[in-house]
Amino acid sequence: MSKKPFYITTPIYYPSGNPHIGHCYTTVACDSIARFKRMQGYDVMFLTGTDEHGLKIEQKAAEQGVSPKEYVDVIVEKFKSLWSYMNIDYDRYIRTTDDYHIETVQKIFKALYDKGYIYKGEYSGKYCTPCESFWTESQLDENGCCPECHRPVTFAKEEAYFFKISAFADRIEKLLLDTDYLRPKTRAIELVNNFIKPGLEDLCVSRTTFKWGVPVSFDEGHVVYVWIDALSNYISALGFMNEQYSDFDKYWPANTHMVAKDIMRFHAIIWPAILMALDIPLPKHLAVHGWITFNGEKMSKSLGNVVDPFVLGERYGCDAIRYHILREMALGADSSFSNEIMINRINSDLANGFGNLVSRTVAMADKYFGGTIPSDRQADALDEDFKNVVLGAVSAVEAAMEETKIKQALEEIFKAVDRANKYIDETEPWKLGKDDSQKARLASVLYNLLDGIRIMSALLSPFMPTTMPEVWKQIGAAEADVTYDKLSVFGVLPENVTVCKGAILFPRIDVEKEIEELNSIIQKNMEAAQANLSAEEKGEVPAEKIELAEEISIDDFAKVELRCAKILSAEKVKKSDKLLCLQLDDGMGGRQVVSGIAQYYSPDDLVGKKIQLVANLKPVKLRGVESCGMICASDTPDGVKVIFLDDSIPCGAKIR
Ligand code: ME8
Ligand code: MG
Repeated sequence: MSKKPFYITTPIYYPSGNPHIGHCYTTVACDSIARFKRMQGYDVMFLTGTDEHGLKIEQKAAEQGVSPKEYVDVIVEKFKSLWSYMNIDYDRYIRTTDDYHIETVQKIFKALYDKGYIYKGEYSGKYCTPCESFWTESQLDENGCCPECHRPVTFAKEEAYFFKISAFADRIEKLLLDTDYLRPKTRAIELVNNFIKPGLEDLCVSRTTFKWGVPVSFDEGHVVYVWIDALSNYISALGFMNEQYSDFDKYWPANTHMVAKDIMRFHAIIWPAILMALDIPLPKHLAVHGWITFNGEKMSKSLGNVVDPFVLGERYGCDAIRYHILREMALGADSSFSNEIMINRINSDLANGFGNLVSRTVAMADKYFGGTIPSDRQADALDEDFKNVVLGAVSAVEAAMEETKIKQALEEIFKAVDRANKYIDETEPWKLGKDDSQKARLASVLYNLLDGIRIMSALLSPFMPTTMPEVWKQIGAAEADVTYDKLSVFGVLPENVTVCKGAILFPRIDVEKEIEELNSIIQKNMEAAQANLSAEEKGEVPAEKIELAEEISIDDFAKVELRCAKILSAEKVKKSDKLLCLQLDDGMGGRQVVSGIAQYYSPDDLVGKKIQLVANLKPVKLRGVESCGMICASDTPDGVKVIFLDDSIPCGAKIR
């Protein structure tokens, strides 16, 4: 019988900084699901990769003086080495810079154009020239400036292609509300209310302002903008519209795309629309999880709040990290990362819970029977409840995994672990061991424990794939004893199974000492991250980004009359958050100037100070208040800064 296919994907990550625990979550979760499905006998395709185009990458590469491809090559290696460190067993790794992917993107773009779903139009909006980025009104910062560099934006227009996503609004609404495509459902409803009900706007899908992207095959100068390039990876990786692979018929539609909420909208609205336009089936499920947060903020590569997963893995082993992140995060909700929660979790569940169960059981088999369980047995009614709880875990885990509820699956397994430890308390094998007439009873208890551990460890193996083979060695289980079909029955281990004492699986961690050490590592990392920020990220304007206005002559400059003036008083202009009305001593009898600095200065900061006044500016009325001239100031990433003058300069003195 041929195996049933199962296709699961992570997002393709931006290689614009090093991978962190946040990326690990999605990848580890998908890996665990993939392993679970393989164990259940599916023919699994697990895809991950990197999303390597775009302006940001182009800029970062330029900053380092390397080509974009050279820049991403280095980071892609870091992603790959993290995945091997975390024991991620992906089947395919896609890079959007791979030729076959580019071919597919170009063909999809052309197909959508030929069908009339992509049309040429004009993109207009607020534009930041130094960043070469368009922003919507709501994306601008609190001063109406560029949200990235905080410099003023201008209105601009650019020729661009648009995707007629509006044509699919009704079908997408039905997909989100009437099917269980998106998990959890609450998020589907949120999306419909926030994006579809107000009316879907056609999506800009090409740009002419940067080069690092897939060229539009039929219109030179345009590159495919973000989402058609990125989302198509899920099908180009199967060979859709390319010759590299031929797995599309087998694996499409995908069973599960997993993403965090930051890119849910693209996968819940744009991706289905693209597929509908191409007339190919939709993926079965989109599983959306929350963010791993750290000190209340989304853990991200740019914030420098990153706990390096390599460091954590080195200290506790990759399985402890895998277990911790999977166990804390409920599908849909955020989960805050804390060293303390992590260490306590490792201690309670892994060291004291599962690890101790295994080492106690193996040690007793060793002590009382020299390692090999004898054939004489004596069952007891006590055994039944223990066995039932363990077997119950198998079906509960299976049900939870059907709905990608990994946290719940782990909770079910640990109910069985707790039950096993309780079984030891109930049966008191150390007492049985002292009484020769109880040997048969003791043999039953230890065999039941070992066989229970066999089932539990097999269930745990998709989540902790590095440690479980070590458990199997210790309890004397062969590979054939831990296949999925052997998990629904007790009595699979050989009757005279022989245990093999081994290393402690999860050493107990000294909480206080460890937290102190981790905090000092994080502190150092943050300082290093701060030191590594580019001048621009620290708020300095890099020299090559300053674009000078047109040259003027000294006569032009002389037309501007700058004079020193002293601020005598300042008060807020009524009904305005931004304006301050200043009374000045200008050495000419005084005047009034209105200035947009109320958000940055209080009257106390200003009164008595001397400033630079543009004295011959034509008077205007601002909010009905007359303003005669303006005071000079500078826009900085920290807001507006007034240029203050030395107090020894007399009021009215000319500045040249
Ligand atoms: O968005 N907590 O790439 P990206 C949990 N290239 N998950 C997190 C996380 C956090 N703090 N930080 C990141 C992109 N993730 C696009 C995707 S897909 C066609 C294109 C994970 O590098 C999570 O899976 O910004 C999130 O959706 C993804 O990384 C975003 O990765
Ligand atoms: Mg992101």
